[in-house]
Amino acid sequence: MKNIGLIVVAIALTLAGCSSNSSEPTTGKEAANQNSVRKLVVGFSQIGAESAWRTAETKSIQEEAQKRGIDLKFSDAQGNMDKQIAAIHSFITQHVDAIILAPQKEKGWDQALKEAKDAHIPVILVDRGVDVSDQSLYATLIASDFVTEGHRAAAQLVLLLDKKLQNMKRAANIVEIEGTTGSAPAIDRKKGFDDEMAKTQNKIVLSQSGDFTRVKGQEVMEAFLKARKDIDAVYAHNDDMAIGAIQAIEAAGLKPGKDILVVSIDGIHDALQAIADGKENCVIECNPLLGPAAFDAVAKVVKGDSLEKKTVVQDEQFDETNVAKALPARQY
Ligand code: AHR
Repeated sequence: MKNIGLIVVAIALTLAGCSSNSSEPTTGKEAANQNSVRKLVVGFSQIGAESAWRTAETKSIQEEAQKRGIDLKFSDAQGNMDKQIAAIHSFITQHVDAIILAPQKEKGWDQALKEAKDAHIPVILVDRGVDVSDQSLYATLIASDFVTEGHRAAAQLVLLLDKKLQNMKRAANIVEIEGTTGSAPAIDRKKGFDDEMAKTQNKIVLSQSGDFTRVKGQEVMEAFLKARKDIDAVYAHNDDMAIGAIQAIEAAGLKPGKDILVVSIDGIHDALQAIADGKENCVIECNPLLGPAAFDAVAKVVKGDSLEKKTVVQDEQFDETNVAKALPARQY
């Protein structure tokens, strides 16, 4: 009996020793090691899945998190910014280490971002910027320059129109399909394009939002074609809306890329294919593969390193001269 009692005490002491060893490292080095093996927890609030571009961005961030062993809390707001704000609150409650946010619209973020800051959770903005009164509410923005994209689209379209209207000596009639109202790319791509086009005699005769979706792009173009018979070109703020517009132009018995020139922004596979098929004329790239840069920023900010306030993503452009080479490697 006495022996059995001693064995029980010995087992209890051994177990107590084990559990204290595993939860409380005895040296600073062990503590540091344990911290470095603890999985980072990152919240990612995504707008939705309105375009092929956005799906590619989501995939890039999810894959990169997995590669780096990060516990990613993913929230899809299905196109509703209120759900994005609710996601920020939920991430704060879960005490995540950092938040990656692709904000739908520019305005309306001050309160939620202040709450994240008060909770000492850094926010990394990807793809779209926000319009807030205090710039310290976010750590960094990783995005393309949307105004420059608009400039580039206009500059390419001017060249294409010069060729198309060669001997006609008249101003071209351009229609514009805008992105989601109030979003940074819709505001900036419109500004960049309209400012550049204003330097020419060409006119933007109709302009309306297609909310960055293929279906709405098609509907808007159908309405434009009913309203006017003299459209020379369409500028769509993203490729999905351009693909919708191409479908509407074909349904109206016209040839996209020839009767009506088509220029858009993103660089998705379908738009490059449309160029290869002669149905679209030029695409300005906006690279959605932001996962690696986003998690580099997360790694720095949680270490306490300082970050550039904005990192501008470098983009290409595609037309009939380079599309055959670019198409096979296109990932999205
Ligand atoms: O913010 C980037 C834009 O959002 C892309 O051009 C578009 O396709 C997406 O939905």
